Amino acid sequence: MPPSIDMLTAEAAPAVDVPATAEPAARPLPAMPQAFAQFSLEGKVAVVTGGAQGLGFAMAESLCSAGLKAIAILDLRPDVGEAACASLTKVHGTPAQFFAVDVTAYDAVARIMDDIVAKFGSIDILLNSAGVVENIPAEDYSYERFKRVIDINLNGSFVCAQLAGKKMIEAGTGGSIILVGSMSGSIVNWPQPQIAYNASKAGVIHMMKTFAAEWARFGIRCNSISPGYMHTGLLSSFEPALVQSWFDKTPMKRMGEPKELQGVAVWLASGASSFCTGSDIVVDGGYTAL
Ligand SMILES: NC(=O)c1ccc[n+]([C@@H]2O[C@H](COP(=O)([O-])OP(=O)(O)OC[C@H]3O[C@@H](n4cnc5c(N)ncnc54)[C@H](O)[C@@H]3O)[C@@H](O)[C@H]2O)c1
Repeated sequence: MPPSIDMLTAEAAPAVDVPATAEPAARPLPAMPQAFAQFSLEGKVAVVTGGAQGLGFAMAESLCSAGLKAIAILDLRPDVGEAACASLTKVHGTPAQFFAVDVTAYDAVARIMDDIVAKFGSIDILLNSAGVVENIPAEDYSYERFKRVIDINLNGSFVCAQLAGKKMIEAGTGGSIILVGSMSGSIVNWPQPQIAYNASKAGVIHMMKTFAAEWARFGIRCNSISPGYMHTGLLSSFEPALVQSWFDKTPMKRMGEPKELQGVAVWLASGASSFCTGSDIVVDGGYTAL
């Protein structure tokens, strides 16, 4: 079991000799250590695309648990998206609104960003998790399908980052943009063929660095999280033998769980990462170390 904050503070407390007959001294509650206070998202409004399920939902949960003022989830799927928002409000007390939209629909996303600012007052954090993967050999990939994957993963990330960033620029209060890349943006997954996905994620990571360079002057930080193989619906359709081959190539010999991205999402969204921009944080059980 990982140590709780209580266990950590108890360990740090100096030993004191207490006479056997004395009443236990009332011990003042420790203030939240400064290191943890930096992770607070109190007063911030977040937009999470692809947040209806999977990694996006897990990261949305962690942002809410860090004290968000409100959250908006943008996703294609109202069936799971509405339930996701209800759960965020019930479990974390965070006002949450679902917007059914395709992230490539520029004008619709622009209207939604207007609605979010009108309703919640600002957009301080954008986390782009909407994405798709498919496995087709390069020689058989139709141009239409190739363009569709690039459109959702790369162009959709541009649409949402540009439109949320414009709101941050207008407000003049800065912000944090987090794109979800993938280790596929820096290595070629093997043996499954996924040329469009790999190219889209390499594009996402390089686009992130470009946003970081151009928008530092507005106080907007832009970083990406690049997961390795994670245990979500996106991967449920793969053959067990293929999945085993991924474990064999991963030093930690397993997939990641969605909750294992929660800490890094809060870190990047919050002031705890205030000097971090243009960085791609790889969370892959060591896969890309080999
Ligand atoms: N699962 C993994 O192993 C893994 C590894 C590396 C990177 N990623 C990336 O993480 C992100 C989330 O993946 P996941 O595993 O949670 O997948 P998922 O399929 O569980 O969730 C993706 C969500 O994006 C939504 N979506 C898809 N296309 C959309 C569109 N055009 N407009 C709006 N919403 C759309 C889906 O409805 C879904 O709710 C993706 O960008 C994916 O490429 C996943």
